[in-house]
Amino acid sequence: MASQLPFPTAGFPTVRPRRLRSSPILRELVRETKLDAGDFILPLFVRTGRGVRNEIASMPGNFQLSVDTLVEEVGAAKELGVRSFMLFGIPPKKDPEGRVSLDEDGIVQQSLRALRKAYGQDVYLVTDECLCEYTDHGHCGPLCETHAGLDVDNDATLPLLAAQCVSHAKAGADLVAPSGMMDGMVQAIRRGLDDAGFANLPILSYAAKYASGFYGPFRDAAESPPSFGDRSTYQMDPANTNEAIREVALDVQEGADLVMVKPALSYLDIIHRVKETFGLPVAAYNVSGEFAMVKAAARNGWIDERRVTLEILTSIKRAGADMILTYHAKDAAKWLRTG
Ligand code: PBG
Repeated sequence: MASQLPFPTAGFPTVRPRRLRSSPILRELVRETKLDAGDFILPLFVRTGRGVRNEIASMPGNFQLSVDTLVEEVGAAKELGVRSFMLFGIPPKKDPEGRVSLDEDGIVQQSLRALRKAYGQDVYLVTDECLCEYTDHGHCGPLCETHAGLDVDNDATLPLLAAQCVSHAKAGADLVAPSGMMDGMVQAIRRGLDDAGFANLPILSYAAKYASGFYGPFRDAAESPPSFGDRSTYQMDPANTNEAIREVALDVQEGADLVMVKPALSYLDIIHRVKETFGLPVAAYNVSGEFAMVKAAARNGWIDERRVTLEILTSIKRAGADMILTYHAKDAAKWLRTG
């Protein structure tokens, strides 16, 4: 009772926040952040072959697919209300410059054509634009000797990225998403696309991408771990915030239409600050390691998978993300449907 409290209690408690939590219907009326299947982009991995459906051990429910099973998988996701997809290619052979990614009949190009043929404009196809899946050394561009040792040759990577984007655009991509953190990549891609007649094709830049331990399972899925060293000379230091703002500002100046923060969960402050600073559409990538942690704990019975997943996705949106790249997309869409 108010009168028993050890401080003056005149009129206390007049304001009772609990009133607004008293019924499920009222809680829904006052809810500030609502998730929707339309917020999700589902990443998918495609390789050559037929009938391939290799489950990725550390990412249960996610598969390396071939073009035919990719079409089926997209159809199944579409049934659940997920209509946007990010494609990652695993080529049959790799080379030092990742030139195999430019092949008109490359794995991503084939996938784009097959999905467009099957689903027309009912699907939105985003392509990850990077060379790490295509180089035989697993770095995000051709290498060169620098004062600090062997490293990615930034400026030699730019025309390759632009050519990769044009090739994907020709095959039917709706949105290109460069993820290599090369300086000047957005400008190079914008020019390449404009010159090739794709002035209206938007760019989603992985603008603030951190050198993160949370990409581990992805590198198994995409078969793209660097064969030596790490990506710290191009991806950002997890300790930095101002650097993210600078990276995003540059990409916006260079013509990025949307910007991404990656990973998501350990970088909610960055998502928030990017949204507040630029007011542009922000994508957040709920990456493979974040997904794997939830799955592993859920499999052990240590957390409630549905509850935790929806809570995580809601927090990412609450922080300021307009869209979320997530391997949970199908499950979350299903759960959102069933209430
Ligand atoms: C680079 C790329 C990576 C991811 C998306 N694009 C790997 C990397 O930067 O090493 C990681 C996504 C994830 O972990 O889910 N092509």
